[in-house]
Amino acid sequence: MSTEIMSPSQPLLHRVAEKDRAPVRFTIDGQPAMALEGDTVLTAILTQRAQLRRNEFSHEPRAGFCWMGACQDCWVLTDSGERLRACSTFITPGLALRTEPVDAMDFASGGQA
Ligand code: FES
Repeated sequence: MSTEIMSPSQPLLHRVAEKDRAPVRFTIDGQPAMALEGDTVLTAILTQRAQLRRNEFSHEPRAGFCWMGACQDCWVLTDSGERLRACSTFITPGLALRTEPVDAMDFASGGQA
């Protein structure tokens, strides 16, 4: 078993099938990114990065937990302040996602800082 630590910019997920779906352009923290049609926001981010977001309280890296809409560990924000559950929201063209810094005030105000 490897003890190598992943770089935050190293993708956690690697696509091995269905690579011929239509591309979907979006941004992560202002950086251009590309997913495939039908990807969830969680898949779209984790095929680009090692982490989904940082916990709003501990600031530890998170990558979701259940991946089926039950644990609340995958909330991310859009640039407009909308909260999205990444594991149950499909990526859409032009979606501007924020993964950090996400602080408690963003969530306390429903993302309307
Ligand atoms: S990963 Fe559990 S609700 Fe999204």
